[in-house]
Amino acid sequence: MARKMEKEDDSKRGFPHYMLKEIHEQPEVLERTLASVIQGTSAADMLGVDAAYAQKIQRVELVACGTSWHAALIARRAFEELVGIPATADIASEYRDWPHRAREGTWVIAITQSGETTDTLEAMRAAKAVGHRTAAISNVQGSTIAREADGALYTLAGTEVAIASTKACTCQVAALLAAAIAVGRLRKSLDASRERSLVQALENAPRQVKAVIDATADVAREAARAHTTEESFFFLGRGYGYPVAREGALKLKETSYAHAEAYPSGEFRHGPIALISGRTPVVAVAPRSKQRDKILANLQDIREKGGKVIAVGTQDPELARSADRILPIPETDEIAMPLLAAVPLQLFAYEMAVARGREVDSPRNLSKAVLGN
Ligand code: F6R
Repeated sequence: MARKMEKEDDSKRGFPHYMLKEIHEQPEVLERTLASVIQGTSAADMLGVDAAYAQKIQRVELVACGTSWHAALIARRAFEELVGIPATADIASEYRDWPHRAREGTWVIAITQSGETTDTLEAMRAAKAVGHRTAAISNVQGSTIAREADGALYTLAGTEVAIASTKACTCQVAALLAAAIAVGRLRKSLDASRERSLVQALENAPRQVKAVIDATADVAREAARAHTTEESFFFLGRGYGYPVAREGALKLKETSYAHAEAYPSGEFRHGPIALISGRTPVVAVAPRSKQRDKILANLQDIREKGGKVIAVGTQDPELARSADRILPIPETDEIAMPLLAAVPLQLFAYEMAVARGREVDSPRNLSKAVLGN
């Protein structure tokens, strides 16, 4: 028994939980994943897209479940922005039974850490059955989906033991952004200077993620201690920040069992704001962006109604006036921002789970891959 404990502790590399270890591994695994998709073989190549096929793509349909679907929501925006074609992000359990009407030139990308999630596999198979070209992004070499799809890109996050996905998700986002850049380059929809600055933003991300972990670990712990007993949280974001907010809410639900709901922050005024009180904290993704003033106005409104605001964003006086607590992230290109903003929310969920005495690495009712039906 003592030996087993020692072995377990060894594999946690001194961290009390796998989830925390995996959060801390992100700078390293992001660097490795980015090196393979940017400096190594291009992401498009791995996904089975060459220059000729890139010209034929008229529409990208992304399918996934849970955290992987949040990566798809980020990628959907990036494909529309960088490739200039329509892109959708569907929940695989819906898509498998109600796929979009088949259209020529549809490229379907299935995203799944495990590569075995039944709904995602079946969604990919449904797309194949109507003749769409398919690709898979998976973290597991040789996984079923990677074997069945027309092209496969492997993220290099290493084994993820904690049920709550952290490093696998940020690696998926990095790979998908690299794929959107690569397809944009092949279709010539992305000019060279924008491409260079995006690649630079991605290459800076691992170092910035390390800085974010260092800067936010204590604040996340303090925030969790201040809100340990609260049972209902809202997470808000706009644009690229909205999927990040969704991911933050999912992490908090899974690990701490607190109720958490995410909204696009503009939509929050259309009903849910009625629930704001001193006992319903709001976690907001509020980086510098074109819409920042709108987010700040939403946050001020919430505070006037008695809500407490925890904001993820650049540490500056405007944000400080609109939030009770800031989880600071550095400035970066808006498209790369989710890689940084996801991290303090992972830490917050982790600290809430610890503060509430939950079984951090293996929450109740959950398993690492959802199989069957
Ligand atoms: C949440 C989480 C799940 C998975 C989902 C899909 O932390 O891990 O929501 O993301 O079950 O799993 P994969 O990516 O293996 O298909």
